[in-house]
Amino acid sequence: MQNFTFSNPTKIIFGKAVVAKLAPEAAKAGKSALLVYGGGSIKKNGVYDVLTGALAKEGITITEHHGVKPNPVLSHVRAGIKKARESNCDIIIAAGGGSVIDEAKAIAAGVRFSGDVWDFFSGKAQIREALPLFTALTLPATGSEMNSGCVVTNEETAQKFSAMGPALFPRVSVLDPETTMTLPRAQVANGAVDSIAHLIEGYFTTKDADVEVTDEIVHALARSVIASTGRILKDPSDYNARASMMWSATLALNGLATCGYGGMNFINHAIEHALSALYDIAHGAGLAIVMPAWFRHHLETAGPARLEKFGAAVFGTKTAEEAITAFEDFFRKTGAPVRLSEAKIPAADIPRIAANAMGLIRMWGMKHEQPEIEKILNKAK
Ligand code: NZQ
Ligand code: ZN
Repeated sequence: MQNFTFSNPTKIIFGKAVVAKLAPEAAKAGKSALLVYGGGSIKKNGVYDVLTGALAKEGITITEHHGVKPNPVLSHVRAGIKKARESNCDIIIAAGGGSVIDEAKAIAAGVRFSGDVWDFFSGKAQIREALPLFTALTLPATGSEMNSGCVVTNEETAQKFSAMGPALFPRVSVLDPETTMTLPRAQVANGAVDSIAHLIEGYFTTKDADVEVTDEIVHALARSVIASTGRILKDPSDYNARASMMWSATLALNGLATCGYGGMNFINHAIEHALSALYDIAHGAGLAIVMPAWFRHHLETAGPARLEKFGAAVFGTKTAEEAITAFEDFFRKTGAPVRLSEAKIPAADIPRIAANAMGLIRMWGMKHEQPEIEKILNKAK
């Protein structure tokens, strides 16, 4: 087990009817909020009314910045920064899924920066400060509500890159499982697959494979995601399943599930971000295509040990091959695509996808070359 520092300052308020509790928390940090949201789901599920009502009660004025796209884009981030500056916003409030929270993070950092916000993503600048950020999560998937990363697509260059920094941890996030009951099935699936992806990246690329406690945390969270998803797909009104899913997804990428691994490789994400950048596919759907192919590559290059351990603990399988099949079966059961062809992505595009992925692979300092990425993608045809 390797040395590690675990520090996560985000306060979580979890449970039924907690959305309004964000307002008094936000009032401690400011009085003029930029309210960031997406295409309108928060108006349908009541989050918008509850949140704006509670903010008004606290005397917080609101400037709205809506229309955040799934896979948020740089031009919209820049527009949000301009708006926040013009309205002298001193806090940012995000209500929605990972895309909304990520865009809000980029805006929070961009407002306090004299250069171009893309510099944070291209590695030209480091995030030193950001406006205080508060979030109301409505889609369990990315962990953005309790981590310090954000992902934005530069639509001019087709680069889907990430930026990180401790200043990006939300101050407070409210997680009300009932707000997730309006999610379409496909988004339930995307969230489940993404959570599994966050758990497996560290587990399978760890520098140290003898970290029993973290391995067991990963197994437990994966079992919880799989069981909760099964229950949600059967009965979308199952509160306890929604609640377990929501908390599992947060814990899967808040730093807990990699402690002691001493380094990891976000390779499935690097490849997936190329799919999202080029085809605007949902992150979870892209991961469901990449992961089975990558597992097959992992088996060839790293051997069966980790797949056997994970498979035995999570799926009750014996061999590495059975574990891969079990992953694929789970993704299929949720309705996610597991091959490029199922997402209508032509195999002829593989070199282009791999070339795009190399941008992030270099940015993240990972040691992979394009032929290897093409080889992995060829297993996803
Ligand atoms: O835009 P609205 O109308 O809100 O609708 C959204 C969107 O269409 C809808 N939705 C959200 N909550 C809902 C709902 N619909 C009904 N009821 C609800 N309660 O769901 C759609 C997808 O939302 P999005 O935010 O795009 O999904 P997700 O949370 O999966 O976020 C994906 C983005 O996060 C990035 C991904 O790459 C992608 O860009 N990631 C961020 C990470 C991070 N910050 O740590 C890590 C991840 O690995 C990931 O890369
Ligand atoms: Zn992810």
